[in-house]
Amino acid sequence: VLTAANVIGALKIAVLVATCLLLASLTALLRGNIKLHGRINFVFFVATLTALLALEVAARLIQPDLFHEYFQQPGAEAALAMHLGFSLPAALLLPFMLYTGLKHKRRAHLALAAAFGIFWTGTVVTGVFFLP
Ligand code: HEM
Repeated sequence: VLTAANVIGALKIAVLVATCLLLASLTALLRGNIKLHGRINFVFFVATLTALLALEVAARLIQPDLFHEYFQQPGAEAALAMHLGFSLPAALLLPFMLYTGLKHKRRAHLALAAAFGIFWTGTVVTGVFFLP
């Protein structure tokens, strides 16, 4: 059923699964398999943005008051603000990560990767551990 707790729980699992994909893609890179890095991250890109779109459709179109009660919990609103501070920049960087990777703009890709690494780590920590 579409409850706030279920949606948040599913998203926490999705973020952990996505992190495994990202780590696998970095392992491939360290082993020199750039093609595999690109393929895994293409899946990472599609999966992450699909989950984000599904969340927005569920929370804004299907059931706009879904999270109303949930975020009445003490500290929940502050945790969400902190989480969005990391997850929004991470989401915005994703298309540029994919583009610079595919176009072999190596310097730009690596510079973005440094920022993306920070934002993704923040997304995982604040999303999985700080959100109620
Ligand atoms: C987060 C840390 C990441 C690091 C350190 C990293 C690093 C690299 C490096 C060094 C290359 C080879 C560039 C070249 O010489 O042409 C590469 C390629 C690539 N990366 Fe990343 N990347 C990261 C994340 C991502 C993400 C998040 C995506 C997609 C959303 C991505 C997509 C790609 C693609 C598509 C390629 C080209 C693969 C190919 O040539 O077949 N990377 N990456």
